Amino acid sequence: MIRFARRTPRGLPLVWRIFAINAVVLVVASGVLLVSPVTVSSPVVAREAVIVVAGLCVMLLVTLLLLRRAFAPLERLAEDMGTVDLLRPGVRAPTGGPDAEVNVLARAFNEMLARLEEERRLSSARAVSAQEEERRRVARELHDHVGQVLTGVLLQVQQVARSVPEATRPDVEELSVAVREALEDVRRIARELRPEALDDLGLPSALNALAANVGRHTGLLVERSFDADLPALGAEGELAVYRVAQESLTNVVRHARAKRADLHLTRVRDSVVLTVSDDGRGMDGIASPAGGGLRGMHERALAAGAELTVGAGSGGGTRVRLALPVDQ
Ligand SMILES: Nc1ncnc2c1ncn2[C@@H]1O[C@H](COP(=O)(O)OP(=O)(O)OP(=O)(O)O)[C@@H](O)[C@H]1O
Ligand SMILES: [Mg+2]
Repeated sequence: MIRFARRTPRGLPLVWRIFAINAVVLVVASGVLLVSPVTVSSPVVAREAVIVVAGLCVMLLVTLLLLRRAFAPLERLAEDMGTVDLLRPGVRAPTGGPDAEVNVLARAFNEMLARLEEERRLSSARAVSAQEEERRRVARELHDHVGQVLTGVLLQVQQVARSVPEATRPDVEELSVAVREALEDVRRIARELRPEALDDLGLPSALNALAANVGRHTGLLVERSFDADLPALGAEGELAVYRVAQESLTNVVRHARAKRADLHLTRVRDSVVLTVSDDGRGMDGIASPAGGGLRGMHERALAAGAELTVGAGSGGGTRVRLALPVDQ
């Protein structure tokens, strides 16, 4: 029976294939009934009932096997559909299978997927640019308003420190130190919100400053290297690379328990590739590693048309790789 199903013309519409399967099973069962010496008495005797039930079971089993075979490509397609992740675009259902109907369905699915991916990419780009705009606004407010006020307070406190009696001077100086620290914090937060170095000095210098800053504040050794003749990536591309590096280094500090991180920016064929790897405990065994940070990185990669992979590094630890295509 199964051999027959294999010989069934594969291009036959599904409805006819199912009909053929049922017809074949019924024809074979009727043939067996006609040529076999089995009779059914009335009232039925136990032996005959057993034979009829056994025959029925065989028929049902064969039908089930053949139908499962016929539906297997559809099940595979449904599985493919179930694993699609719009944050990792480019996956497509195979359309070259032997079943014409499944191929039509897979092609329609792929077309729908392409439309959804494009829509997702545009909405990610909109979300990322709205987020950047908001960060820029907050950074400006912090720098221009809170920063100015704190600078004024610091100057006044320093002036007061010079004129107060000797006994209270240590307290006022302590106050001055606290205000200076608050001012530095405000400047640092504003810098992190809006990396001015990126606009002023370019991507390698901004990454260099970022890595140096992380190293200074956390004790993490951040080795970095940048290819000398990197092509221009455009403002959005550079920002995507910078933000992915920033989140990756923050993750190393927060989660990896690493001693060292490596940050590289290289040109690989038609792409600029950022890698951030660490020698920490890695992400294996972490039940659900997709938090807001990783998700944000995927959004940025999607918006910039880049490819992001996060996984185990070659020497243990974790490696984040962002490949951003450059226009020739
Ligand atoms: N370099 C790393 N080494 C080890 N584990 C990591 C590393 N990077 C990420 N992880 C794991 O992946 C998880 C998700 O990271 P993700 O950046 O998405 O979220 P988060 O850092 O926990 O929160 P946030 O939204 O503030 O970034 C982390 O909670 C951590 O368990
Ligand atoms: Mg994070």
